[in-house]
This record gives sequence, C-alpha cells and structure tokens, in this order.
Amino acid sequence: MNTPHINAPDGAIASIVLMPGDPLRAKYIADTFLEDVIQFNEVRNMFGFTGTYHGRRISVMGSGMGMPSIGIYSYELYKFFGVETIVRIGSCGSYSPDLKLYDTVLVEEAFSESTYAKVQSSEPSNVLKSSIVLNTKLQAIAEDLDIKLHSGRIHSSDVFYRENPDFKAIFEDHGCIGVEMESFALFNNAKVLGKQAACLLTVSDSLVTHEETTAEERQSAFTNMMKIALELAE
Ligand code: HPA
Repeated sequence: MNTPHINAPDGAIASIVLMPGDPLRAKYIADTFLEDVIQFNEVRNMFGFTGTYHGRRISVMGSGMGMPSIGIYSYELYKFFGVETIVRIGSCGSYSPDLKLYDTVLVEEAFSESTYAKVQSSEPSNVLKSSIVLNTKLQAIAEDLDIKLHSGRIHSSDVFYRENPDFKAIFEDHGCIGVEMESFALFNNAKVLGKQAACLLTVSDSLVTHEETTAEERQSAFTNMMKIALELAE
C-alpha cells in the first residue's frame, strides 16, 4: 500500500504503533528493544519499523513535529494501513511546579488553540480526550513496572518559540500542566476514524524553573516511557 507519505508492504504495520516525534528515536527503539525488525517506511526519512517485544508484535514510527505532521501520519496509518491504536511517546515542557524534569505524564486531555480539529472535521471543542481504555492499561503497566505516572490535561501548541512565553493563563484558566505540540491532532484523528489514541510524555524542560535536560539525560528518562508503551504489544 502506498499513500503520499508512507510506502509499506501490505500487512507490514502492526495494529499498534508507537510514535515518537523523531524518526531516529523510532530507530533507536527498534534497535534497542525489538526483535525480528523490518523497516517499513523511509519516505522523507520518516522511518517506521515493525518487530516483536517479548514475542508480541508492535510498530514504531516517527511522527515529525507539530500537529500538521502527526495529523498526516496518524491519519494515513489509521485509515489506510489498518492501524487501530497509536500511542504518542514524546517530550513536554512543564507549566506546573509539581511536574519536575524527567517525570512521566499520561495525557488525559489535550487543549489547543489550533484550528486543526475544526478544519479537519468541524470539531467544535478545543479539548479532546485520549482513550480511557488505553489509559487504564497504561496506568496498570506503569504500576507493575513501578514507574510513577502523573496524569492530566496538556497544552498542544502550534508555537515553540513564543515572543511572549507567558504560560500562566493557559496553566490557570485551562488547567494544562505542560506543553507539547501533537496530541490534539492525534486525538482528533482517532475520534473521527473510530480508533484509539493515547500519549505518554517525559518532561524535558520546565517553563517554571527554566531547567533543561541534556540529550543524554533525556535518553535514559525516555526509556521509562518507552518501556510502558511497549508493553501494549499484542
Ligand atoms: N514547548 C512545546 N513543546 C515542547 C516543549 C515546549 O517547551 N518541550 C518539549 N516539547
């Protein structure tokens, strides 16, 4: 099956796909955690891989950054490749003093000023939910692995570099504990197409304390989030 952005042999993509933003992180996950790996996509270097995790099948593919990018890839995976479940595994900035660097967040809802959902499907709401069924499974897995999960509403922003980075209104008025750039579009596509979506995030920077992580520190903290999501393999 070929779509404008994904060339993959029929049946090459598992029904569950994990999506980090960075295609090289998808490759890292495949190289580090999966066995019997095949690469199914290289269009635009947006690498996708399928393999097994503890004998169970799962795919991992980059989403790119921002809602237009994850919007395209998640729509094609759901609609044309038979994918039932997508779990974004990404990074976020913290808006809340309670959310520290390297904490893992399970996203229950995404708030956005983006017009993505309105344009895509006349969706009137600016808050969209992830799958409760998936979230319940992810919570149980995290408990088994002894990894603490924070949960709450995230801000899906179209803008990384804001001239006025005053996040307090979004934290206080909309109850968003942190910021990333993709979940709202993913949750919209799952809703429209009758599929499942969830999102796990690792805190990579704090807008409260202005601390930032290094690439090496990020890598090991991100491993927690990956191990939780990989347990969903079927
Ligand atoms: N803003 C938007 N997206 C992000 C951030 C941020 O500060 N950190 C990680 N993803």
